Amino acid sequence: MLSHEDNLLLTQVGQGTPMGALLREYWMPVVQSGEVEPGGKVKRVQLLGERLVVYRGKLGQPGLIGEFCPHRLASLYFGRVEDAGMRCVYHGWQYGLDGQCLEMPCEPAESSFASKVRHVAYPCVDQGGVIWAYMGPASPPPPLPALEWTLLPESNTFISKRVQECNWFQALEGGIDSSHISFLHAPLHHTDSEVTRELDRASFGVGEAVQTADRAPRFEVVDTDYGVLIGARRSWPDGRHYWRITQFLLPFHTMPPTDRDERIVQSHIWVPMDDTKVVNWMVTWHPDRALTPEERQVHLEGKGAHVCDFAPATSEPYGDIRTALNRDNDYGMDWDVHRGKMFCGIPGFGVQDQAIQESQGIVVDRTRERLGTSDAAILQVRKRLLGAARALFERGAPAPGRNPESFLVRSASVLLPPGASWVDGALARIVVKPGGQLTLA
Ligand code: FES
Ligand SMILES: [Fe+2]
Repeated sequence: MLSHEDNLLLTQVGQGTPMGALLREYWMPVVQSGEVEPGGKVKRVQLLGERLVVYRGKLGQPGLIGEFCPHRLASLYFGRVEDAGMRCVYHGWQYGLDGQCLEMPCEPAESSFASKVRHVAYPCVDQGGVIWAYMGPASPPPPLPALEWTLLPESNTFISKRVQECNWFQALEGGIDSSHISFLHAPLHHTDSEVTRELDRASFGVGEAVQTADRAPRFEVVDTDYGVLIGARRSWPDGRHYWRITQFLLPFHTMPPTDRDERIVQSHIWVPMDDTKVVNWMVTWHPDRALTPEERQVHLEGKGAHVCDFAPATSEPYGDIRTALNRDNDYGMDWDVHRGKMFCGIPGFGVQDQAIQESQGIVVDRTRERLGTSDAAILQVRKRLLGAARALFERGAPAPGRNPESFLVRSASVLLPPGASWVDGALARIVVKPGGQLTLA
């Protein structure tokens, strides 16, 4: 349970809010690199309550500019992308990549008005097949976090994203909630090997966890430089402990556990559009090899946590990534499957998560919740973010996680003897650099 004030602090991300200010200290994914072409089609997006247009200049450099032209607020979605940046088609005002107005061809030639107008614009870079923007105050911006998947060839990764109609933080909470897989994503009977095999194929290690039949994992959490390391312990049939290890990386990346043998890793990024909508990015990657066509197909078909089936595009920001299965059609709920086969009859992991996260209300009222021991990770991540947002807002304390290299981590699953340290036991799987250490907070 949270106080009303803390719930607002956690969930409000607009201009001038403490959490909005904290999130602006970190790089944010905007669109995939291939979605905008040099001098070509642009896209409407929304980040932290701001309506923006992302584009690629004719020379290839990515740009992110406020959607509404400062002259008389026409949409720059219809703008002309030029060498220098973006030109409004209403009266021809031209803006550089940094938002500086460069030309006002509708004003007298002797006018210096252009030099006095600066539009909202944010620095962008391409990394890992994604355009990232920095919306914070630092100049120059901090370095990008060294997320493993952003450093690999694009053939090693599969990326999807979709809009969810709920507050960003309840969606993120679903990403660190290691106990729900034994219910929301599970077959009705844990011995249903056909389903558990399918679960393992689609989303790594969930079938394995379900087969343990231990539905009450014990949680332990450790604060690290980059975020929070979360261990969930289940009993393995031979008496060993089965640890599923989730990562939370500041400010909005989560990595669900992998399975024990395969090295494929997954991560969500929960990027707030505003207080009521979130873009749920999902990345699957293999550290050492390209993903196979079969592996990509599983994701394209929505059998795992990716969702790639969208409703007809609209002209709203991110209007092309609203899921086809959504609140309006009860997410494709199949009551026969619900009765006879699966714990929840909604098809596919990703849609199951979305349905449940949206069902909590647009913004969860955390004054009404009743948390148990299985919510330990959620409590810790809330504490970390609330503390960092307050410290920045009240004292100007630097945002945590400033060492980009500390983000070179993965999630994992390991089997360990009872009593063994799960952090030490999983270290070789968790740190990307052989022999590397975790930086504890
Ligand atoms: S509204 Fe953009 S130039 Fe006039
Ligand atoms: Fe889930």
